[in-house]
Amino acid sequence: MRKIMILNAKGGCGKSTIATNLASYYAVENKKVVLADFDPQLSSLGWLDARNKDPNWEYPEITGLDAANKTPTVPNDTDILVMDAPARIHGKEMSNLLRRTETLLVPVLPSPVDIRAATKFIHQLMLTGRVSSKQSRIAVIANRVKENTLIYQTLLTFLNSLRIPVIACLRDSQNYIRAAEKGVGIFEMAPSAVYTDLEQWEPLLKWLKGRASRPK
Ligand SMILES: Nc1ncnc2c1ncn2[C@@H]1O[C@H](COP(=O)(O)OP(=O)(O)O)[C@@H](O)[C@H]1O
Ligand SMILES: [Mg+2]
Repeated sequence: MRKIMILNAKGGCGKSTIATNLASYYAVENKKVVLADFDPQLSSLGWLDARNKDPNWEYPEITGLDAANKTPTVPNDTDILVMDAPARIHGKEMSNLLRRTETLLVPVLPSPVDIRAATKFIHQLMLTGRVSSKQSRIAVIANRVKENTLIYQTLLTFLNSLRIPVIACLRDSQNYIRAAEKGVGIFEMAPSAVYTDLEQWEPLLKWLKGRASRPK
């Protein structure tokens, strides 16, 4: 089973957006996908509700688990486990959560406040001792990026100094809002409408396929 967690202590940086789109990508690929929502707000499960309610279309199945209120039991035949982590997570709670994953994706918004918060958070992650090549691999996704802004360059310089790869830069796009409303991923929308976004996911999906995203 492939275990991928999306986390960042900050709310609103795109954790649920990336978790749900990633789940949809693997479901379209015919994988058996479980989407475990560790956030008490349960946005990912809300997305799944919207998905299952659409009477016009049967989307590939994704199993949702409420991991915020009870310890999740992940079915043995799961191919891909996508975990949507809660915001405001620290200390012991964070190390417990990290034990469940082999790949960590940290979405960061390129704003001064978010970059400052992400800097602190990534330092904390490193200190837990679980984020290393042995236990889990980490990568950053720059989200809602307006390229060529100075603050975006600052983010890249910071990550470079920690040797953390930035494996995708996703633009700010209404397609994510539309997808969230309907309970679909951009991989399930008309390619003519989402091709720019699909292209931006390519390096992330490639990284997830390769060795560099798994522990040694
Ligand atoms: N790349 C993006 N483009 C446009 N809107 C986005 C993008 N990423 C996230 N959003 C929107 O930003 C808001 C917060 O995103 P969300 O994924 O819920 O963050 P988190 O789970 O980290 O709190 C949501 O309304 C979501 O639709
Ligand atoms: Mg969320």
